[in-house]
Amino acid sequence: MIIAPSLLSADFGHLADDVEMLNSSMADWMHLDVMDGMFVPNISFGFPVIESIARMTCKPLDVHLMVERPERFTGRVAALGARVMNVHQEACVHLHRTLTSIREAGMLAGVTLNPATPVSVLEDVVCEADVVMLMGVNPGFGGQVFIENTVVKTSRLKEMLLRRGSGALIEIDGGVNRETAARLAAAGADILVAGSSVFGAADPVSEIAHLKSCGALL
Ligand code: DX5
Ligand code: ZN
Repeated sequence: MIIAPSLLSADFGHLADDVEMLNSSMADWMHLDVMDGMFVPNISFGFPVIESIARMTCKPLDVHLMVERPERFTGRVAALGARVMNVHQEACVHLHRTLTSIREAGMLAGVTLNPATPVSVLEDVVCEADVVMLMGVNPGFGGQVFIENTVVKTSRLKEMLLRRGSGALIEIDGGVNRETAARLAAAGADILVAGSSVFGAADPVSEIAHLKSCGALL
């Protein structure tokens, strides 16, 4: 299981400490949530902050763009050295073109679905995606309650990827904790994003280790 802690739940007043903590942990990727106040009803942080984080970490960056027309930023995200650029299907008019340009820019192409968007909208584009991310909450905020339907939706996505011959990885973002992680792993998740469950834990480093082992019991 790939674990990607979300810095949205970090202490922004002591960001360097939290990045250091993640550097010393078993976290695989660093998940960065960019919000524009239009696609989602919140504004988080942007490129200057991510540039600072990129200088402080050796972990690959998983950039989740909760912005309208995310294709405007492909070059900027690539310049950060990001491993993954995740765009929302709901924010892209020309999703095939956007995913192709993300790959051409040297990154893994990620496409994200809101809880209300069925996996079937990706039928004709899954072979252009390296990662498909399902939101376990409505995007915009950390610490929300997990939407249970995400588990069966994960199984449905897994079945579709196999049927289509796509090697895309399944990533889940929102509401991930010890309990939901085990069920998501069983349903086929490859990557788990966790914000509040990691940063709200008494010992975030061991919480990350625990989440990482949740697929090993299967
Ligand atoms: C929400 C963000 C998530 C968020 C998850 O819109 O995309 O990455 O940090 O937070 P938790 O893990 O607390 O649900
Ligand atoms: Zn996210």
